[in-house]
Amino acid sequence: MPVSFNSIYCESFMPEDWLTSRLSALAQYQEVLEGTSDQKGELTGWVSFPDTVALSHLSQIKRIAGTIRSECDVLVVIGIGGSYLGARSVLELLRSPNYNLLCHDSPQIFFAGNHLSPDAYHDLLALIEGKRVAVNIISRSGGTIEPVATFSLLQNYLKKRYSHDELQKRIIVTTQANENPLHRMALDENYEVCPMPSNVGGRYSVLTAAGILPFAVAGIDIDAMLKGASEMRRTLSQNRPDNPAFQYAAARQALYKEGKQVELLTSYHPYFTSFGEWWKQLFGETEGKNGMGLFPATAQFPTDLHSLGQYVQDGQKLLFETCVVFENKTESSHIIPPSMDELSFLEGHTLDFASKQAFRGTLLAHVDGDVPNLLITLSKPTAQSIGSLLYFFQYSCALSAYLLGVSPFDQPAVEAYKNNILALLGKPGLEDQKESLSRRFCRI
Ligand code: PA5
Repeated sequence: MPVSFNSIYCESFMPEDWLTSRLSALAQYQEVLEGTSDQKGELTGWVSFPDTVALSHLSQIKRIAGTIRSECDVLVVIGIGGSYLGARSVLELLRSPNYNLLCHDSPQIFFAGNHLSPDAYHDLLALIEGKRVAVNIISRSGGTIEPVATFSLLQNYLKKRYSHDELQKRIIVTTQANENPLHRMALDENYEVCPMPSNVGGRYSVLTAAGILPFAVAGIDIDAMLKGASEMRRTLSQNRPDNPAFQYAAARQALYKEGKQVELLTSYHPYFTSFGEWWKQLFGETEGKNGMGLFPATAQFPTDLHSLGQYVQDGQKLLFETCVVFENKTESSHIIPPSMDELSFLEGHTLDFASKQAFRGTLLAHVDGDVPNLLITLSKPTAQSIGSLLYFFQYSCALSAYLLGVSPFDQPAVEAYKNNILALLGKPGLEDQKESLSRRFCRI
C-alpha cells in the first residue's frame, strides 16, 4: 500500500475500542462520500474525480502546460487558500523548495495573490522582468480579493509588454465555468479557461486543474499522480477495519475525546514544510466549527526540535503528533567524514542514517513524555505516491469531520472577515458596515 497508518505509539493513550466503536459510523460516512447512501454528500466530486476526469480535460491541461514549457521562462500562479496551497506543496515536495534555482529544463514558478503585500509584489516584478511570462490565476469563486487584486495588477503590467494576441496565450484562468466575475472577464478577453468542477470545494481541489496544471508545467507526471489517487480510492472505499482512513479518522477523534486539542503534523524532511501548510488548511477549514475541532499545527523536525521541542516534550499535554515518514529521494549516501575528535562517533554514518536515528530518538522521547504519536508512512515520494497521500488526507479529513458532527465542505465563518474587508474596501451595499467598522477600529 502506498500509504500506511500505524497507531502503535498511541494505543496506551486511547481506550481499547477506539476503532471498533467507530467502525459503523465510519462505514455510513464512507457511503455518503462514495454516493452510495441516500444522504446526499455536497461537494464530494473530488472522491471520484481521479477515476472520472475527462480525457479531453487532461489533454487541454497537457497542451497548455506544453506551450508554457516551451514558450515561457516563468509561470506566475495566482491564488490563495485551497487555490494555491496544494500546487505549492506538491511542487516543493516532489521537486524542491529550491525548484526555481534548480529547474533548468522547465519554467520557474512563482506564487502570488496569496497576500496583499506591495513589497512582495514589487519583488515579483523584479523576478519576472525581462523573462517570458505566463500567468495562471486560480479562483473557484472568481471573486476573492487577494488573487483578483494581484491579477489585475499583473494583467495591467503584461498589457504593457505583450499584444492582446500574445496575452491570450499567456493568461490561463482556472475557475468554475459559472459566470463569476473572473470567468466573465476571461470570456470577454478570450483567455483560455481551465474549468474547475462545480462539485469540488477549494481545499479538496489539488487534484483538479487547480493543482495539476502547475504540476504539468513543472514536468510532474499528472497521469501517475491521478493513478496514485485512484489506487488510494480503491483502498479507502472498502469497509474494513484496516482501512487507513478509518483508522486515522478514528484515532484523531479518540485522542480529541481524551482531551487533546492540537494535532501537530511533523516530518523529518524540509521539503515537507509547504505540504504541512496544505494539510493545515484542509483540516482547519474542514473541522474548526461550532466551537469544536482539533487545532492543526505543523512542525519540521529536527529544525523545530530546537524551538518547539521543549514544549512538545514537557509543556501542556494538549497535543499529539502525526508524523509523516518517507524515504529520501536522493540515492547518494553523503557519508560524514572525520572532523572533530570529540564527535568522532558521527564518522562513517550517512546523513540518511543520522536522520533516521533523529526520528527514532525523538519519537520515543516524545512518547515517554506522554505525547501520543501517530505514524503515516509513505513509499518514496513520486507523482504516484503523492497522489495517494493527497487523496488519503482528503478522505480521512472528510470522515473526521463527519465523526465530529460538522459539515466537511463548508467554511461559513470565513465570510466574517471577508465581508469586513469588502466593506472597508468600499463594496457597494456595505456602506453602513464600513461606517460602523471604521468607528470601531478608530477606538482600538
Ligand atoms: O478551501 C476553500 O474553499 C478556501 O480556502 C478557498 O480555496 C480560498 O478562499 C480561495 O477561494 P477561491 O478559490 O474562490 O478564490
